[in-house]
Amino acid sequence: SIQACLFDLDGVIVDTAQFHYIAWREMAQDLGFDLTREENERLKGISRMESLDIVLSIGGVLLSDEEKIRRATAKNARYLELCMQMTPDDALPGVRRFLDELKQNSIPSGLGSASKNAKVILERINMLHYFDTIVDGNRITKGKPDPQVFLMGASDLNVPPAHCVVFEDAVAGVQSAKAAGMLAVGIGEASILTEADIVIPGFENFGLPQLENI
Ligand code: G6P
Ligand code: MG
Repeated sequence: SIQACLFDLDGVIVDTAQFHYIAWREMAQDLGFDLTREENERLKGISRMESLDIVLSIGGVLLSDEEKIRRATAKNARYLELCMQMTPDDALPGVRRFLDELKQNSIPSGLGSASKNAKVILERINMLHYFDTIVDGNRITKGKPDPQVFLMGASDLNVPPAHCVVFEDAVAGVQSAKAAGMLAVGIGEASILTEADIVIPGFENFGLPQLENI
């Protein structure tokens, strides 16, 4: 039985994935190449500096370590500027209702995100209070697909991994959940999230009865 729910942030709770894409794409264009939507899929769930390395390799661009830090800092400033346009209405459809349903049923919720901006973003959309624990990019030492992020969440909540379910929109995130021995619910397209136990388009028609049926 499911005793805890662990949520990725970007692309699951809120559609910040589009802002990450805009900010990386602008950086790429500034360096003289484009970043396609398909290439951007590879960045989902991946830390800021690792994402930078992937984007630079796509463009065949080499930068000094100093310049890499400058670019990553500028990307983050642009990303946060885009995020600040968000309001509590920008939580993805059905997410708030599902988190309320979990609370009413005393099922703890945790956040498991590679982002160092996780708390700022949750505050921005007024959802920080939903989470009994936050595991973010400031706490983890190994990024997704390593299971560390979700194992830490399970341990914080005192729930065995086998009784946790993870909600993820990233290929690397689904791999992380499976490596942790958890049930993985993909948010998005089944053709992309092939390793998930089930894929749903979002939380609009999803609640505890559907979760129990998996
Ligand atoms: C999430 C996103 C990634 C992002 C990473 C780090 O996992 O899916 O696209 O690169 O967080 O985010 P940050 O906010 O710390 O740059
Ligand atoms: Mg994500």
